Amino acid sequence: MNDQLLEEFKSNLKENGFSYCTTHRAPSNIALVKYWGKYDPQIPANPSISFTLSKAFTDTTVSFEPSKSPEINLKFEGEAKPSFIPKIQSFVDRIEIYCPYLKGYSLNIETSNSFPHSSGIASSASGMAALAMAICSLEAKLSGSEVDLKKASFLARLGSGSAARSIEGPLMSWGFHKDIAESSDLFATPFLEAHPIFNTYQDAILLVHKGVKSVSSTVGHNLMNNHPFANQRFAQANDHLAKLLPVLRGGELDQFIEIVELEALSLHAMMLSSTPSYILMQPGTLSIIQRIRTFRAETNIPVCFTLDAGANVHVLYPAEHKRRVIDLIDNELAAFCEDEQYLIDECGFGAK
Ligand code: DP6
Repeated sequence: MNDQLLEEFKSNLKENGFSYCTTHRAPSNIALVKYWGKYDPQIPANPSISFTLSKAFTDTTVSFEPSKSPEINLKFEGEAKPSFIPKIQSFVDRIEIYCPYLKGYSLNIETSNSFPHSSGIASSASGMAALAMAICSLEAKLSGSEVDLKKASFLARLGSGSAARSIEGPLMSWGFHKDIAESSDLFATPFLEAHPIFNTYQDAILLVHKGVKSVSSTVGHNLMNNHPFANQRFAQANDHLAKLLPVLRGGELDQFIEIVELEALSLHAMMLSSTPSYILMQPGTLSIIQRIRTFRAETNIPVCFTLDAGANVHVLYPAEHKRRVIDLIDNELAAFCEDEQYLIDECGFGAK
């Protein structure tokens, strides 16, 4: 937009307000080094790194309507969902200081996920990333500039920490780490030095437990506040990331597997040793883990597992082994999934 047009646009905006409607698709992500524990305002206790996914995503359309008494309306999969509004309202309140233009707008939000609602796949990362992109798109329109992806990640983080990593891909780090230039606790940045094998990575999400988990991530993060192993865990995550970075550059899959699996089990070890303690893994989770390790030992195929804060197992492998790994899932692992259900996903490049 040239300067004159921009000035006209701004004065028109001042007088009449400006309606704007935009649609964004943002994917979920799966952490290799886990974010677990945080400080106000959404500052991670340790840095993390994740694969951005592509097939598990949220589509969000936001229509911004100028209004003297702004409100938020929300439809989820075509139906009004007033119960979702308080979370969005507190997000909007929280970011208003960074997006003062939001004050004059009502937000009509329509959102849907590509994955089933009760699949046990968290939608907070993809959902908050899509909403943050919509807001940054309004900002870009108002200022006549490009969408600021760093700001989108910054805003998404204030909605849900892991959402910061869903803006770009295929590998995103978030949180200060001494070995990552430009790393920040405030937003995520793409890790651009990875070996090409990691661009081909697949993630089969085995749905061991659909439905809502017994302890939310918010509660889990809080339990790290007085956790006896918190400091060791934060140091371990920093150390794992320091070891993982050269492995990501060099493509050494044995070391990749060792670090990634240890991270998943360390995350759940924190839950097992919290007060009160809790267990999100199910018997099927452990059976799948054992079988993946046996299969790897027997075949030398570099397949490994990771877990998020739930019972589902993410099976990670390079695309060239897809057929063998899908056979393993169909023949042995799907039996441990609810309704034998799993989703095949792969690395992607972030929000659109
Ligand atoms: C285990 O990002 O869901 O998936 O910031 O409270 O929204 P909030 O937490 P959230 O925590 C994700 C935890 C994790 C690990 C990870 O994604 O790094």
